[in-house]
Amino acid sequence: MFVVSETSGKEKNQFYVELINAVQLLLTGETDLIAQTANLSALLWYTLPDINWVGFYFYKDQDRDKDLDKGKDRKKVLVLGPFQGKPACVRIAPGKGVCGTAFASGKSLRVDDVYAFPGHIACDPESRSEIVIPVYYNNDVISVLDIDSPNICRFDEKDQYGLEKIVRLLEHHIIYP
Ligand code: SME
Repeated sequence: MFVVSETSGKEKNQFYVELINAVQLLLTGETDLIAQTANLSALLWYTLPDINWVGFYFYKDQDRDKDLDKGKDRKKVLVLGPFQGKPACVRIAPGKGVCGTAFASGKSLRVDDVYAFPGHIACDPESRSEIVIPVYYNNDVISVLDIDSPNICRFDEKDQYGLEKIVRLLEHHIIYP
């Protein structure tokens, strides 16, 4: 249904033009958060070369039942959402690891070598580089898109630019919560 050929031999800018078109088609006409992030994970998994994990973490109450009484003091963490790849760490505190750091800063984070990143959370020891893009809704960061690669330096500024555009599209095609 969505045809995006592999990047090998193709200029990366052109790859992202095609991928962004495919994302636009995929997301249009739907606003369900889980459906949209699940489908987007699947599309990225099948089109981005040299990755071993792609998915979303959502900022949520740590323990929904217990935290309900605590009002503003309730603790919130990043909780695993739709993804493709091996089973992964479920909860990440804001400020921890690559995901929590990107979440806390509200800015994309590219890590060329995760073993050199202090506090990196190794869900899969085969992951060597990573990119995390925060997802905004009404000016708040509600989620992060996390992509891992088994290759060092897999993600460059062109990947960041293309993936940020994809996340901006997602933000316009979801209703939260
Ligand atoms: N490596 C991430 C944890 C999530 S997994 O890669 C899926 C981190 O340091 O935040």
